Amino acid sequence: MNSFTYYSPTRVIFGAKTTDQAGAAVKAHGGTNVLVLYGGGSALRNGVLDRVTKSLESAGLSYECVGGIQPNPRLSFAQKLVDKYQGKGFDFLLAVGGGSVIDTMKGVSMGLACGSPIWDFYEGKRTLTAAIPMGSVLTIAAAGSETSASSVLTNEETGVKRGVNTDFNRPLFAIMDPELTYTLPAYQTACGVTDIMMHTLDRYFSDSDTDYLTDAIGEAILRDVMDAGLLALADRSNYSARSEIMWCGSLSHNDLTGLGHGRDFSVHQLGHELSAKFDIAHGASLAIMWPAWARYCCAAGPRRFAELGRRVLNIAEPNDELAAQLTINGFEAYWQRIGMPVRFSEAPEIGILSEETLNELARRCSYYDTRVVGFFRPIGTADMLEIYRAANR
Ligand code: NZQ
Ligand code: ZN
Repeated sequence: MNSFTYYSPTRVIFGAKTTDQAGAAVKAHGGTNVLVLYGGGSALRNGVLDRVTKSLESAGLSYECVGGIQPNPRLSFAQKLVDKYQGKGFDFLLAVGGGSVIDTMKGVSMGLACGSPIWDFYEGKRTLTAAIPMGSVLTIAAAGSETSASSVLTNEETGVKRGVNTDFNRPLFAIMDPELTYTLPAYQTACGVTDIMMHTLDRYFSDSDTDYLTDAIGEAILRDVMDAGLLALADRSNYSARSEIMWCGSLSHNDLTGLGHGRDFSVHQLGHELSAKFDIAHGASLAIMWPAWARYCCAAGPRRFAELGRRVLNIAEPNDELAAQLTINGFEAYWQRIGMPVRFSEAPEIGILSEETLNELARRCSYYDTRVVGFFRPIGTADMLEIYRAANR
């Protein structure tokens, strides 16, 4: 196990009806004037926003609500919010939504605390030195942004989707009320389960296979979220299943499952290019890219795949090479079972791509030949092209 520093400071307020504690939580963290952010309208329609604002009023706090954040959130919208609310005296930001709303909130915090343009932080041109205090009321278990150090935005002018990782991005609290996720459509539930699996898998394939506790935590998360995913899809108001998925979502992405080793995250990088170009949901992009990545990279360490399959999918095959193939097939079959696309032709946003587009995706993913990604099997432009080609069926 390599040396590490672990910092996960977000206070988790978990359970049914905790939504109504939003006001008290903001107050406890020093907020008095709150900018509440939400998405395309689900929080209005299902009454969550109303509960949150009532709770802010009960706590004696002033607030303003602003909605309209889209999935695969756009840089221009976040920057517009910064420009609009700069100097308006908000001392707390509260996201009511999922990764897209929370990531936008983090972008707004960057601009309000450290100035514009905020894309500088995503491009690594400037480093964050401060943040506006932030919290969230989570409405979809998926991205893990409620406790993560990341914010991911898409610059729609250049078609680049990019993340920035810094402890200044960590929210002070996360209200996780599993009942809020009962209204999620099946597709979004499945996208969330897939993203949670991938936050675990992208860390599992690392530069080390001797971090036994870290591995065991990841394997338990995978077993649990896969089982709970099926239960929640069969009965969307299954509180127990929704609870398991929600807690897995945070644990899979607060870095617990990556302690002691490097994080591969190749599949996330490959998937981000699909979301940037085709606006496909993040989880769906990952379900497509993992099988193609896994088959391409498997030869670098079939034993790792085999162990994963034996511990998570109960694969009994003693031969590592054969067990590795069964493992990849097993995850692919799970995603098909929950309604995820596993190849380009199954995603209506994508379809079969031309060789020119595949080349463009690969070149963008390698930042035009200036980086390789991954630890388990580092991949550059030529590898990325082969992986995109493998998904192009
Ligand atoms: O916009 P509304 O109307 O609210 O609808 C949303 C949206 O259409 C809907 N939804 C959310 N909660 C709901 C609901 N519908 C009914 N009932 C509810 N309770 O779900 C849709 C997806 O929402 P979104 O916030 O986009 O989902 P998710 O949490 O999956 O976030 C995805 C974004 O997070 C980024 C992804 O790249 C993507 O842009 N990620 C952020 C990470 C981070 N900051 O740590 C890590 C991840 O790897 C990921 O990259
Ligand atoms: Zn993700």
